[in-house]
Amino acid sequence: MSSAKSLLIRQARVILPNGEFIIGDVLTQGGKIVEVASEISYATPTQEIDAQGLTLLPGVIDPQVHFREPGLEYKEDLFTASCACARGGVTSFLEMPNTRPLTTSQSALDDKLQRAANKCLVNYGFFIGATGDNLTELVSAQPTPGIKIFMGSMHGQLLVDQETVLEQIFAHGSRLIAVHAEDQARINQRRQEFAGIHDPAIHSQIQDNQAALNATQLALKLSKKYQRRLHILHMSTAEEAELLREDKPSWVTAEVTPQHLLLNTSAYQTIGTLAQMNPPLRSPHDNEVLWQALRDGVIDFIATDHAPHTLEEKGQTYPNTPSGMPGVETSLPLMLTSAMAGKCTVSQVVNWMSKAVATAYGIPNKGEITPGYDADLVLVDLNTYKPVKREEVLSKCGWNSFEGWNLTGWPVTTIVGGEIVYDQGKVNTEIRGQALTFL
Ligand code: DOR
Repeated sequence: MSSAKSLLIRQARVILPNGEFIIGDVLTQGGKIVEVASEISYATPTQEIDAQGLTLLPGVIDPQVHFREPGLEYKEDLFTASCACARGGVTSFLEMPNTRPLTTSQSALDDKLQRAANKCLVNYGFFIGATGDNLTELVSAQPTPGIKIFMGSMHGQLLVDQETVLEQIFAHGSRLIAVHAEDQARINQRRQEFAGIHDPAIHSQIQDNQAALNATQLALKLSKKYQRRLHILHMSTAEEAELLREDKPSWVTAEVTPQHLLLNTSAYQTIGTLAQMNPPLRSPHDNEVLWQALRDGVIDFIATDHAPHTLEEKGQTYPNTPSGMPGVETSLPLMLTSAMAGKCTVSQVVNWMSKAVATAYGIPNKGEITPGYDADLVLVDLNTYKPVKREEVLSKCGWNSFEGWNLTGWPVTTIVGGEIVYDQGKVNTEIRGQALTFL
């Protein structure tokens, strides 16, 4: 936006960096927050929002999404996905490398950045994917939040499941390594044991807790050996949470998805393969242990693992059905509804979905409502409850695993770089986000 353009948000319930709320005004100019005060009366803004009754939060930074472009645009693309982000209050995202071609080189990364600059409504960053033979690119690629390693649940070039190869990656360079931690050898063996079973509930037994624990243990071992910055993606089991509770070096972080907190294996009975993802849904006991680990800081933040597939693909018979579910449109309301139900506080949700992510990935000037920070903001309504409806989904996949759930905290207005990108059901498709930078 031009440096002259300004936006005044009036009389919102504003969350401050210390987690306290004030009723006040927030002024943005040139894409930055310039003032937060109980009343800003001198300003003559270009645009004004009357936010009485609404709560103003920093925009969500979703650190694990699969947006399918290039190559799999029939499921999702950067335009549709970023419209879904705008609706969900997600103002920045970090996207994964399992597109076609894979994001395993500087040129593939540059291509994604160019595509995003052309069509993304929110801010963007892209991981570089590890193969067994792209060490040089892993060390040098820029800009990227880090290296993504699929230790399991992947086939082809992006699967890196041999300890000697993993060790090479941990031993070279210093940037963050984010792991999808599942033990592929164990999964392969259990796939054979359970072959012929078409009930999708078997998915959670094939890719069981032990498979996740084995891989997390290995990643932790290598990270400790090289003191290498490690992030454990979508942690799903009580066993992994207890492992980290006992032994979490200061350079290790972990995330959990709303679905691993709120859904469990009972979901297969109600939504069938729409509950199928990797790592799989677990038991109610796992849900509770993960919640406790999150509240205690053992798990650092929330990611959605937004992984859309078409209903046609999901309608096949297990195990031919792809794993994954969309998430960016519902993650914030799901977490805020949990807060209103007493599972945590709103300020914890804000930390887990904005500030802690910015800190972990070294994203400057994001995640707080404070002067000098980027004006990436979301106004949510914590007074009303509305169900998740399939017909309102903006993700190209056109479905959501939480359909029918009655949620509060739905975004009313989403602001990216001081520009209104979503307002009361309408997306402003003219807005473009920016490439994220990483310290
Ligand atoms: O369920 C999943 N689906 N987990 C992943 O890690 C990958 C994702 C996908 O890309 O579909």
